[in-house]
Amino acid sequence: RIERKVDSVLALMDVNEKVGQLVQYSGKWNATGPSSSKGDQYKLDKLKKGEVGSMLNITSVATIRETQKIVMDHSRLKIPLVFAYDVIHGYKTIFPIPLGESASWDLDLIKKTASIAAKETAASGINWTFAPMIDVSRDARWGRIMEGAGEDPYLNSVIGVARIQGFQGDDLAQLNTIAACAKHFAGYGFAEAGRDYNTVNIGEYELHNTILPPFKAAAKAGVATFMNSFNEIDGIPSTGNKMLQRDVLKGDWGWNGLVVSDWGSIGEMEAHGYAIDKKHASEIALNAGSDMDMESYAYEAHLETLLTENKITMAQLDDAVKRVLRLKFELGLFDDPYKYCDEEREKNDVYTKEHLAIARDGAKKSIVLLKNETELLPLSKNIKSIAVIGPLADNKDAPLGNWRAKGTYNSAVSLLEGVKSTVGKNTKIYYEKGADLTIPTVKPGDNQFSHPLKFNDRDTSGISAAVEAAKKAEVVLLAIGEDAYQTGEGRSQTNIGFLGVQQQLLEAIYKVNKNIVIVLMNGRPMDISWASNHVPSILECWFLGSESGNAMADVLFGDYNPSGKLPVSFPHNVGQEPLYYNQKNTGRPYNLKHVTYSGYIDTPKTALYPFGFGLSYTTFEYKNLKLDKNDMPKNGNIKVSVEVSNIGTRDGEEVIQLYIRDLVGSLTRPVKELKGFKKTMIKAGETKTIHFIINAEMLQFYTVNKKWEVEPGDFNLWVGGDSNATLKASFMVTE
Ligand code: IFM
Repeated sequence: RIERKVDSVLALMDVNEKVGQLVQYSGKWNATGPSSSKGDQYKLDKLKKGEVGSMLNITSVATIRETQKIVMDHSRLKIPLVFAYDVIHGYKTIFPIPLGESASWDLDLIKKTASIAAKETAASGINWTFAPMIDVSRDARWGRIMEGAGEDPYLNSVIGVARIQGFQGDDLAQLNTIAACAKHFAGYGFAEAGRDYNTVNIGEYELHNTILPPFKAAAKAGVATFMNSFNEIDGIPSTGNKMLQRDVLKGDWGWNGLVVSDWGSIGEMEAHGYAIDKKHASEIALNAGSDMDMESYAYEAHLETLLTENKITMAQLDDAVKRVLRLKFELGLFDDPYKYCDEEREKNDVYTKEHLAIARDGAKKSIVLLKNETELLPLSKNIKSIAVIGPLADNKDAPLGNWRAKGTYNSAVSLLEGVKSTVGKNTKIYYEKGADLTIPTVKPGDNQFSHPLKFNDRDTSGISAAVEAAKKAEVVLLAIGEDAYQTGEGRSQTNIGFLGVQQQLLEAIYKVNKNIVIVLMNGRPMDISWASNHVPSILECWFLGSESGNAMADVLFGDYNPSGKLPVSFPHNVGQEPLYYNQKNTGRPYNLKHVTYSGYIDTPKTALYPFGFGLSYTTFEYKNLKLDKNDMPKNGNIKVSVEVSNIGTRDGEEVIQLYIRDLVGSLTRPVKELKGFKKTMIKAGETKTIHFIINAEMLQFYTVNKKWEVEPGDFNLWVGGDSNATLKASFMVTE
């Protein structure tokens, strides 16, 4: 039915109106890219003429209503605008940054938080989020690693799908759902040396086997939109890549949604040296299947001429326009352009107690216990004295992380606040900041892009007071890590250690009190080697959002037994980057007591903390790995079972992970690949039998024949609590 409606609207449109539907402007507030030279009056005139299809970065029901009204009151066809915004980890109720939330490996939770983000967003009049980011990212130097699910294609696929389902629900026309956007298509997470926007050089097989699977899963799950990416792959900017957008996405995968460019990425093909000018860039982009122009002002200026010059066809233009109209029909905007403009909902459905409770639940489940050598954790709530120290200890803003949408400045629960509301009244708390992490360069609450960070690497004057506090306390909670704006767009770094004077602070405290729990807050895997070699306990707390401090206290004081597992490898040092568990074996994988092997002479080859790793306050034991048979035909299956026992004294959740290796292929295969996982509660003393089924889908890859195939031969599998799992079995696939 929608198709007929789309066709009937299309039939009424002239070329200007069609081109207009492919134009997306930003409201001047909150620009998420370099500001354009076009003023408000220019945009206003275009809106009146009905030559704008979508606006981004316009928020609040009142402003959205006002903007929509311009189109309704003045334009000939009154085609409603669709409003977009980057709702990455919550709208006003802020959830953990996506990388952190991915550490929960809890798909129901992830779906839930996305659905709440959608509810708040839709209640504020917005229809479309530019999320989830499903770029496989393996380089800790890349600031946007915070926005995805880390280094593994499978984990990115299932988490991406959970987020899409959460945002979109079953029906985009519902009042509490919004359109999702799978981004950035493709390869953006593979930027050379982690430099944002940079060149990507990967082969066709790597593209299909590593980067595309999450996007294929997103398309299959019915994601409404895709965003292409700033980077080039092997000489072709993704925005102008026909193979990716027309052949694979819209062709092979049969996906009929809308592809939006990234901010200015059509115009940027000029800077790439791929287009002579914006006209040429528009020709390349539209031909390649890039439907909507975000802030390049290229399509609006050139598509009509390109049409008359036969450089693009009316069929291509119509196809792109239909994708925009389809989205608007699906959202119900044609039925009522003001459908999502309800001040009451905006007031009542946002930042509710119920949403904050889920934010706390999500935050505690995202925490990863990296080290607990002396079982310092969990702490007693009646501990006599505790020192809460560090630049992030009473910081109410950093835990909101970057890309925080409408999260209010300074609104998170700080660690100190969380501790205060958890411990008994006899506990003495000593708080000292110790040092500032950064020197303020902008006003509090400014836009993320106005945050050129300047680190405090001089002022150590607060350290002596922190040392005195540490001397007096039984245990020190040391909150260090990163500023919220060290990760995010344009936030690449070559140093992933503790910046500023944080390392000095840590070492000074360590001299007087060894009972340190590092409460790490960060958006990327960091080099924490010194800390890992010295302090007894490390809790990875990412940026956990609105309820940060409460969630941290839940884990620190044992109300919640940590269950998070790393979605990215933590290196020994930055020189190991990019680092990921699912590497290739190479021809020289071993240290044959000779230096000529693939590794380093000054650093281990492996991670400090591997992918999938995370401790609990209890201990899990894996045994009796069984396969129901040891061979299967290509289209058959094998049932796998394993016993997991909780041999400690506390109930706890474990993420049981299944890894597979295809030993010999028509192309070399990774040493291990995650193919399944189950998160389950196992009570103290209990043993659970966990089942997996190995099937063709898990074993296939994009082979030398340029097809997804299962190749007969030998396979190994491992089941365990992280990617270093050693419990192993083998099987064979026959023709
Ligand atoms: O959605 C973002 C994208 O991820 C990076 N550039 C700006 C876009 C719109 O804000």
